[in-house]
Parts: sequence; C-alpha cells; structure tokens
Amino acid sequence: TASTPFTRALPIPPVLRPVSSTADHDLYDMTLAPTTASILPGLQTPLLTFNGSFPGPTIRARRGRASKVRVTNRMTTPSSVHLHGADVAPSSDGHPVDLIQPGESKIYHYPNRQPAATLWYHDHAHHIEAEQVYRGLAGLYLIGDAESDALGLPGGQYDIPLFIRDAAFDEQGRLLFTLDDFASRRVVLVNGAHQPFVQVRRRKYRLRLVNAANSRPIRLVLSDGGEFVRIASDGGLLEHPVRGTSIELWPAERAEVVVDFTNHATGSTLYLENVFNGPETPNRQLLQFQVGEPVPDPSRVPDTLRTHPDLGEPILTRTINMGRDATNTFYAINGLPYDPDRIDFRCKRGSTELWVVNNTDGQYNFPHSMHVHLVQFRVLDRNGVPVGPEEAYPKDTVRIPAGQTVRMLVRFESPFTGVYPYHCHFLDHSSAHMMAQLEVVP
Ligand code: C2O
Ligand code: CU
Repeated sequence: TASTPFTRALPIPPVLRPVSSTADHDLYDMTLAPTTASILPGLQTPLLTFNGSFPGPTIRARRGRASKVRVTNRMTTPSSVHLHGADVAPSSDGHPVDLIQPGESKIYHYPNRQPAATLWYHDHAHHIEAEQVYRGLAGLYLIGDAESDALGLPGGQYDIPLFIRDAAFDEQGRLLFTLDDFASRRVVLVNGAHQPFVQVRRRKYRLRLVNAANSRPIRLVLSDGGEFVRIASDGGLLEHPVRGTSIELWPAERAEVVVDFTNHATGSTLYLENVFNGPETPNRQLLQFQVGEPVPDPSRVPDTLRTHPDLGEPILTRTINMGRDATNTFYAINGLPYDPDRIDFRCKRGSTELWVVNNTDGQYNFPHSMHVHLVQFRVLDRNGVPVGPEEAYPKDTVRIPAGQTVRMLVRFESPFTGVYPYHCHFLDHSSAHMMAQLEVVP
C-alpha cells in the first residue's frame, strides 16, 4: 500500500461556523467521537476526532470577541479540552482532571483578549492525553485582530495552516501508539495527509507552522534553500521579521512564516522538508509546492510588526528540574510526579518571576520542554547564550535539550487567578507524570 507521493491535495481543515452569535460572543459546537478516515490509500484508519475532522475544525476568533465552545463527548473515554497558549480562566483551561465524561457536555469560555496568534486545542485528559491527541484530538484556533490585519501580510487563501505530526500505522492502516518503530510504518502527516501537494501562485504566502507531534522535533527547510521570513512565534507576532533558511519546532511550538514564490518558474516544484536528523532524516519530504502563474501581490512584510510589552523585573527566582524522581523510575518535575491535588508554586498575579529550568536528564540524552498554561513568557537564554528574537517572545513552550538550562521571564499579567498546569510538552512525558501545577493568587 505504498502511496504515490504528492498526488493528494493538501487538505485544509474546515473553518467551524458558530451555531449562534450574540453581541459579544459566538457559540460553537464540537462533538468528540470515534471515526475512520482514509489516510493511507486503500486503508481506513480509526481515529478520535472533533466533529469527524482530522485534524479538528479550525476556529477563527477575533480579539475582543469571546468564543464559547460546547464540547460533547461521544467517545468511550473521558476528555478535557485545553486551548494551548490561551489566557483563560481555570474552569475553561482543560485541566487534566476537569473531565467531560462519556455522554456529557461542557461549555468552555474563551475571552480572546490576547493579540492575534496561532493557537491550537487538544485533549488534556489525565494520563491519556498522549494517546488521545495521537489518535486525532487536536485542531487549530486562530485569533485575529485589527492590528495584525493592518500590516498587509498575506491573508485569505494565501494564509495556509500546516499542522505537522508523525504517525505509525500497522498493515491494516490502524494507528500504532507505540514508542518504537518495530513492524510499523511511520510517516509524517501535514493537515492529516501523507506527502500532499499544494498549488501556489507566484506571490507571497503566509504559512502557519505547527508541530503537533507527541514527541518528534522537526527542522524545516525549503528544498531549494529558500528563505523563510519568520513573523510570529507561539503567542503571536514578533517585533520584527526574522529571516532564515530553517525553522526548528519542537512539539507544540508554532511559527508563522512568509515564503515568496514570485521568482520560481511556473510549472516548477519545490518541497517543504524535515531535516531534523540531517539530510538522511526519514520521511524528509513533507509537502510539495506546485508553482503556478503569477498573480498581483499587494501583500507586504513591514519591518516592524508589533511592540512587545516590557515584562518587568522578576520578584523571585524559581528553579525547576525536568528529570526523574529519586528512585529514577519515572519522569518528574523537581523530583515529584504529577499530583492534581498538589500546588508547587504560588505566583502573585501581576508579578514577574525568573524561571531557571534545567533538563537534568543529560545522562540519558532525553530532550524535554517547558509549557506553562495561561501565560506567554520571554525566553532569555539557553546555557547562558541569549536566544534569537524568534525564540524569545511571545512563547508558551520552550525546548530544553538534554542537560541544558533555559532561563525565562514569566509574567502573570492575566486577570485570572487559580490553578494551572505546567509540564513537558513531549506528551508521552506529560502523560507519564512530567507535570506540576502553580496557583496564581491575588
Ligand atoms: Cu498543549 Cu498543557 O498543553
Ligand atoms: Cu519531557
């Protein structure tokens, strides 16, 4: 059942329509249910989906206008839906034990007070999020605002989300949720398709890159060595565009880039490639761009995109070790496994803290990351070396290679108080204890 590469058009996840709208919010309906889809030719793959879509439908929200999302669980397992990167109340944060049981519904309230950003939603049910996300429970949530619209960046049909993840299949086309590649066919999917193509015109495009894999970092390049103009990070626009020829994204990290196809010949092709493990990376070619005719292009990338807030001076320093417990048997944060009843940090609303996050798994060569709910933080440095502006702010997930240390400024500027998780975003790790909680207090 080898698929012929680049014969399937890139799917674009459907944009979800509200079921009702009032003066200040839109209400959306989402149903969690098992379904099947054809991902590999001739085979049906059982999945868990939002509204039958893999990946889930895209919600397009506007800053200043709230969304309510009513989620009904028609699966046999519980779920909790987390809007990753969002500033929301604890009751709508998708806490791991705030579960929607089979047959039940819950309405999540998303105020959308934050700037334009590429966010994503995914399952967060305690201990089973890795498997449920892997089986399909994830989708995009895009916040737009007038400030970013005014920049003149490529938009509409020239603004394409690329939701990238790996998956392993057995001979029947079933997803294998396994840590090893034995007897499986592991591929990389873009918007749920294996090696799709997309037709582009000779002009600029905005690509929203999301690493939606459980545990697989990627390093993206264009096959002709072409340039990405990076315009946004996890939580929205950078201050200034950053030019480069590769983009490294670890699980849950996002980057928005502008790619200009103007100088490619009509009829030519090029590829989006993953070279994380060098030129011999398996499944290197992810997506084929088929270059069509020129088209007038009024879009532009201004030299200044947004002014970032000053996060202020930290009132305290916290040390966080991402590693093992004392008996060296499971993943842990500061030596402790996740306990939904335990609060490790009390953080004062309105204050800024300095977090020193150590990957203490150097001897095992295990990578980890740090994701903090509620906030967008500023990464200062990694092993003392300042990170580039594309990785500094606004970030909600930062990578921490084995044995390395990241320092970051975390400001609790949200009006919300209450309990929020922070964890490694290798979901195989977070669902195996590598998670803890803080409480924001007035
Ligand atoms: Cu995307 Cu708590 O996670
Ligand atoms: Cu980890």
